[in-house]
Amino acid sequence: MGNSMNVAPKLFQKYGDTVRVGPRDIIFNGKSAIQKIIVEDDLLKTPDMELVRDDINVASLISERDRTAYKQLRRLLSPGFSISYLKGLEPLMRDCVKEFEEVLDLKCSDSNGSTTIDICGMLSFLTSDVMSATSFGGSFGLVKSNDSHLKDLFINRMQKTAIFGQLPFLQYIPFFPGFDPALDILVNDIIAKRRAENGSKKRDLLQIFLDANQENPLSFTEAHIVEEMRLFMIAGSDTTSMQATFAILLLLNNEAKLKLLVEELYKAFPSRSDAITFANTQELEYLNAVINEAMRVMPIVTSGLPRVTSDAVVLNDYEIPPGTIVGAWISQLHKDPRIWPDAESFIPERWLHAYKGVEVDRKAFIPFSGGSRNCIGQQYVLHLFY
Ligand code: HEM
Repeated sequence: MGNSMNVAPKLFQKYGDTVRVGPRDIIFNGKSAIQKIIVEDDLLKTPDMELVRDDINVASLISERDRTAYKQLRRLLSPGFSISYLKGLEPLMRDCVKEFEEVLDLKCSDSNGSTTIDICGMLSFLTSDVMSATSFGGSFGLVKSNDSHLKDLFINRMQKTAIFGQLPFLQYIPFFPGFDPALDILVNDIIAKRRAENGSKKRDLLQIFLDANQENPLSFTEAHIVEEMRLFMIAGSDTTSMQATFAILLLLNNEAKLKLLVEELYKAFPSRSDAITFANTQELEYLNAVINEAMRVMPIVTSGLPRVTSDAVVLNDYEIPPGTIVGAWISQLHKDPRIWPDAESFIPERWLHAYKGVEVDRKAFIPFSGGSRNCIGQQYVLHLFY
């Protein structure tokens, strides 16, 4: 499973856009098949989504399969991701970025103006600080403390979730190390602290969870609050930091493109005191092109998005029976040479004008997925990137 990102492209190359990889398991490339799976037919997530839950009866936004329950949950959480709400978060995001700059400045001044840093690790701390500051009432302060203990808890949780999702019986073997309870202790502390606070109510994700629990304590239980918080803490940080790291890596390996981006940024913000906002970075054409191209060439979601057919469906001219697991490989679509000339190369210019006579096909670019189960964090991520 961990190697599917390397194996699948080879299978597509050898067998074409439709590859049967198990008795009832087929993976797909191709714009029309992928659009049909995730957007037009909006197929259900697979039953094994239930195995990644801590408690089989407590679904989170990512693991809820029932369409009606999912719609209710999504409606509940959407205010925490609306454009107007995100605009209000910008000062909190900026404070975290300012702290990041201060730490970088300090490191440089300690070593005569330049230094070597682990940008991947630092960005991971930064996105966790931003997520906690904007959604859970206070920054974890990881950029300043440089304490990796919390990140280790997140990684432990993700690894165990993946292992138990594939091999659920392991959870019942005595002495097999389970989830580290420290993460739940942290989450419960944050909840208790917020409940104890007096004064004006914050309007963040945590408050949305707490209000939902107060209004519907039987359907949105205490366990649901904890499950959602864990999900957003984990989904909301390393995804964004890894994607930003990949963009930096691509730029460093393509000096001419880096130069063009730096020129655009210096022109737009000649002084260090110029305010950089989401609104004024939206107009920066080259920056937008770099972000899109980085998400196309080096995406963080590298495996197929698995869905299950409930009726027979025609995909890539094959009739697929009900009960089949169909994987929509968006990362493969993003590098399909029939759609993207020089598909493996980092060419931001293709987003500015036709490249080799080919305009970008927006329907073949879905880094945040599509349909009803698209990424709820998409706008949040874009605010953070800019
Ligand atoms: C560059 C960063 C990110 C990328 C490329 C990304 C991409 C995606 C994709 C492709 C999916 C669909 C997965 C599937 O269908 O199996 C998804 C789902 C999801 N994402 Fe993101 N994501 C990013 C960041 C975030 C952030 C920052 C958050 C939270 C603040 C977030 C929260 C979620 C959630 C909760 C889901 C599940 C939605 C559902 O099942 O209905 N993501 N993301």
